[in-house]
Amino acid sequence: MRLQGTMQVNEEGRLTIGGCGVEQLARQFGTPLYIFDEAHIRENCRQFYQSFGVAAGYSRVIYAGKAFLTTAMCRIIASEGLGLDVVSGGELYTALTAGFPAKDIFFHGNNKSYAELCQALEAGIGRFVVDNFAEMELLSRLAAERGQKARVILRITPGIEAHTHKYIRTGQIDSKFGFTLPNGQAMAAAQRVKELPGLEFKGLHCHIGSQIFELEPYSQAAATMLELAAQIKAATGLITTELDLGGGFGIYYTNEDRPCSIREYAETILGRVKEEARALNLPVPQVIVEPGRSIIGPAGCTAYTVGTIKEIPGVRKYVAVDGGMTDNIRPALYGAKYEAIIANKAARPPVETVAVTGKCCESGDMLIWEAKLPRVEAGDILVVTATGAYGYTMSSNYNRLGRPAAVLVYNGSADLIIKREDFNDLLRNDVLPPRLSNPE
Ligand code: LLP
Repeated sequence: MRLQGTMQVNEEGRLTIGGCGVEQLARQFGTPLYIFDEAHIRENCRQFYQSFGVAAGYSRVIYAGKAFLTTAMCRIIASEGLGLDVVSGGELYTALTAGFPAKDIFFHGNNKSYAELCQALEAGIGRFVVDNFAEMELLSRLAAERGQKARVILRITPGIEAHTHKYIRTGQIDSKFGFTLPNGQAMAAAQRVKELPGLEFKGLHCHIGSQIFELEPYSQAAATMLELAAQIKAATGLITTELDLGGGFGIYYTNEDRPCSIREYAETILGRVKEEARALNLPVPQVIVEPGRSIIGPAGCTAYTVGTIKEIPGVRKYVAVDGGMTDNIRPALYGAKYEAIIANKAARPPVETVAVTGKCCESGDMLIWEAKLPRVEAGDILVVTATGAYGYTMSSNYNRLGRPAAVLVYNGSADLIIKREDFNDLLRNDVLPPRLSNPE
């Protein structure tokens, strides 16, 4: 069990985060509750900012909003000098509503709609990461109609396989994303950008996958992409001034995970880009990275209240909490592993191994199959750590459970950043046709 960020166990043996007692937070805001540690989020942003040399102009760090995005999060990201990667009209709307500078927004996605492209052009966003030919043609037309130049980065599928779960692997050829490199589509895309009006070529992008612990795939991606940049330059004269290598930097969830430091990722990537650019006689492009999980994952956790406990002697002990796959689908979807701590027994050593399950009507509704904990009792506040990324953003209302609230803790104070959904919220979109309203 690792205490992340500002998590501490106080003299009374109770868990605090950002100077706030977790039990008090649970009492004040209810459970399940997502707790975000602002100091830790900012620390992670600064690690990226400094390691990648953003101030010196070598790089840009673009936070991948899909990991966790709210208006408050947008404010934090903007104040740390990071840009923002959005993948939908909804994420873009959130960012614009929060006053996020449009020029620092990158728009991703393999199926951007007409309406989304219009919305992004009207907002004047910084970069369109163009994924396919149909999008390129449409964007060109819409930008030209408006007398605008859309600044474009081409998403390339480089054919690099990273060792991660197949659902979150994206660098391999058989992928729904991007222009395929080895079959010539990537080069054809560059040629087309040059011909079309309304587009300004800025560079190339790839994202090899997520929760990657090795440095080598990044180094390889940098080299492969620069080789492509050299071929594009030779064939079209277009210069890759920006090289976006995506996100995917691995984090600690359990003691099976051994992440590299952000500095190691930065040194590997920046070093290889410089080296290859020199070797190919290309100007060194500005490097862009798009971390999501590594900024917000370790800085968030989820507090639950323990309810029923079922012991099957000789088999397993199930400890049920008041949330589950609705607020964290990752164990069910990817077999993701987590650790837990009991906030009110944080100094006690583990004495039993239990299975932490949710309250949904589904056997796969598991949070942790083997959690080592002090003796667990109903009413305990159980905290699952490192749930900050892809927890809330992939949450659902399965079984008509309302989504939990989220609080931001900092220096002893706690602010609500997402309200808990109540029964009225669950009915908000229900429509009762008149012919069903008056049953005979
Ligand atoms: N850039 C692009 C183009 C991406 O597709 C992604 C993630 C990122 C950046 C950020 O990757 P990160 O640094 O967060 O690993 N729901 C899955 C993860 C899906 C990631 C999708 N793309 C999960 O819960 O593990």
